[in-house]
Amino acid sequence: MPETSIKGRARESQRETIVLGVETSCDETAAAVVARRPDGSGRILSNVVRAQWEQHRRFGGIVPEIAARAHVECLDEIIAEAMLGAAIGFANLDAVAATGGPGLIGGLLVGVTTAKAIALAHDLDFIAVNHLEAHALTVGLTEGLTPPYLLLLISGGHTQLLIVRGAGNYERLGTTIDDALGEAFDKTAKLLGLGFPGGPAVEQAALSGRPGRFRLPRPMLGRGEPHFSFAGLKTAVRHAAQAVAPIRDQDIADLCADFEAAVAASVSDRVRRAMAITDTRLETGQQRHLVVAGGVAANRRLREALAHVAQGAGYQLHVPPAALCTDNAAMVAWAGAERLARGWTDGLDFQARARWPLDPSATPALGAGKQGAKA
Ligand code: KG4
Ligand code: ZN
Repeated sequence: MPETSIKGRARESQRETIVLGVETSCDETAAAVVARRPDGSGRILSNVVRAQWEQHRRFGGIVPEIAARAHVECLDEIIAEAMLGAAIGFANLDAVAATGGPGLIGGLLVGVTTAKAIALAHDLDFIAVNHLEAHALTVGLTEGLTPPYLLLLISGGHTQLLIVRGAGNYERLGTTIDDALGEAFDKTAKLLGLGFPGGPAVEQAALSGRPGRFRLPRPMLGRGEPHFSFAGLKTAVRHAAQAVAPIRDQDIADLCADFEAAVAASVSDRVRRAMAITDTRLETGQQRHLVVAGGVAANRRLREALAHVAQGAGYQLHVPPAALCTDNAAMVAWAGAERLARGWTDGLDFQARARWPLDPSATPALGAGKQGAKA
């Protein structure tokens, strides 16, 4: 349970609170400083992200031990850069927030331990932030949008549809029963020899492709619960690639275009289903909002499809800017500030959590198998 005592400056609630955020749950080392005004609006004072692609590229995916070591090597520097960018000292902070999970445990330990040490040394509150909550609340920082809203979270490790009712209050409607959407993009890119990270590479290749040539499946279309599945689609891409071997650049481009079309059709169908459920759960007469977060939200083809779905259902679509959709620490600092405003802080005995569902009461999706460690 969160602690409720708030230290130092944050007790005077009628002024801006300033939070340092730290993100180390996957392959980005990030630190940021964010301010939250008493009216609930926010601003970013600094936002520093260092990706580790170079260290992982030759392995074709993220190696957890390499990620953890890379975080150790540069986190101090990244935090110093964020503090310098914000032009403040530690004494000006109200709290330090770190991603406490879910994610790769080695990296989480680095961020959580560092944040606790800063909190202890400077007598600040420590806040353990759920990485998924950080993605979920980002629109509050970027657009001032307040819950309730329907959230589509699509990243390298998670694919979920949730009703966000408020900080700490989530209802999960759907999840993936196998691969996450970003993972499907990454695996498709890898098997087509397009490199890592795969999402942008697939999107780029698809630009010169013609959709409609390959008959790829549209997974889960029409299913009652808004769950996802992408493993079969990825296998279908492999079979299609084998069938045209030796594969040429145009084949790759066409396959990528068809892959994106299949993804767009499947995700659109699942979101429509989730909207129908959301409409029965939320008060009538309120403007509905669909928020898309996570790295895959950068995909243009998918964004266009979702804009169409939102328009058809009377929802307003919100997609934070790409730099705040992919992993970053501004979202962690912001989620920390939101928790601090409610008096929710954590003890220094908090343990990092590799798994940490936003809605612990959600029943597992039928056939749910593996879950990625990324978020
Ligand atoms: O949220 P994120 O930065 O990291 C976590 O997984 O937490 O998401 C990364 C994922 C990767 O799988 C990457 O391939 C995918 O987002 N991605 C994209 C695009 N840009 C990044 N997928 C499709 N199209 C893109 N343009
Ligand atoms: Zn993420």
